[in-house]
Amino acid sequence: MGDDPEEGMLSWDESVFRDEHVFEIDYLPETFKHRKGQMESLTYALRPAVRGSRPLNVMVRGPPGTGKTTAIQKLFDEVGAQTADVRTLRVNCQVNATRYSVFSRLFEGTFDYEPPSSGISFKKLFGQIADKLVEDDRVLVVALDDVNYLFYENEASDTLYSLLRAHEEYPGAKIGVIVVSSDPALDVIEELDSRVQSVFRPEDVYFPVYDSPEIVDILEERVKRGFHEGVIGREILDYVATLTAETGDLRVGIDLLHRAGLNAEMRASRTVERQDVTEAYDKSKYISLSQSLSGLNDTERRLLEVIAHHDGEQAGDVYDAFHDETNLGYTRYSEIVNKLDQLGLINADYTSVDGRGRSRSLSLSYEKDAVLNRLD
Ligand SMILES: Nc1ncnc2c1ncn2[C@@H]1O[C@H](COP(=O)(O)OP(=O)(O)O)[C@@H](O)[C@H]1O
Ligand SMILES: [Mg+2]
Repeated sequence: MGDDPEEGMLSWDESVFRDEHVFEIDYLPETFKHRKGQMESLTYALRPAVRGSRPLNVMVRGPPGTGKTTAIQKLFDEVGAQTADVRTLRVNCQVNATRYSVFSRLFEGTFDYEPPSSGISFKKLFGQIADKLVEDDRVLVVALDDVNYLFYENEASDTLYSLLRAHEEYPGAKIGVIVVSSDPALDVIEELDSRVQSVFRPEDVYFPVYDSPEIVDILEERVKRGFHEGVIGREILDYVATLTAETGDLRVGIDLLHRAGLNAEMRASRTVERQDVTEAYDKSKYISLSQSLSGLNDTERRLLEVIAHHDGEQAGDVYDAFHDETNLGYTRYSEIVNKLDQLGLINADYTSVDGRGRSRSLSLSYEKDAVLNRLD
């Protein structure tokens, strides 16, 4: 090092980032390591579609941040490169959590414009999609991504039933379904109506959490593309991987790299130090909390806030407080409690209460302040 006190410091027009875009949520990575087996199983299931037949249905399972969505995107890209006779559509069920809304997205993917906003019946919506498929002699592959949200709204069975029985109602329509669940506590098959169970025998593809060496391997690639050389040392990368492995969610690692880089820039430093990562982790570790909250409507957010202020109390007492504010009935209340529980935002465990038999106590899964800050 020279005597220049400015050495190691960033000037105004400099950045630690080579390409900041690679840390964004919708970035599709060029290389997709450690998912060879899963990609092979998915490819195998879709092979009949490329030949013009109905593909095998697939059930993809695995916790958040294990590469499921990326795998579907890669797969669909590959199919698209092979043939124009297969239409592949991925529907995000966190955003489209009803059968009607799922089919609206399928309509949009089929015709490249939205269905009339005045509203048409489900039957018409479906009919037009199916007719177009038959007319074009194409196979449709639908990925219901984060299908667990359809279960939370009690829409999963109807949606799947329509898709799986399409060829009976619309002869010649060939549709394959890939359901993707990111809720390890959800038994997809078990939770479906028996009428759906009898026609849904999917291939099972599992995405386990990445271990530390795999995380290092994957993040190293991101570092190479995203940062200038020498910004992130080996030790720092290992530290990021250790923190990421604790959560099991690769999104945390990618967000950590991004935020740590921003922290380094804040200090006008050319290199990311351990402290930058530690500070970033205070935010990055809540990425799945933020993600879950983003899918809640106003009433659901309201109840979560009430629970935060009555952390650990009995469901009946929490209901009284909630009812005072919203006037909603107990049935609706219970439904929302179940949904918050399924989302992993709260724990609703049965406990014995003196003289009142068993009742549920409701407690937050995250620290109160972390939840309340993000609800504002
Ligand atoms: N094997 C991998 N190689 C490179 N990036 C990956 C890999 N697996 C996951 N990712 C990245 O991790 C993040 C989470 O992956 P995603 O496919 O959204 O997971 P899931 O759908 O299981 O929640 C995304 O930014 C994705 O690009
Ligand atoms: Mg996903």
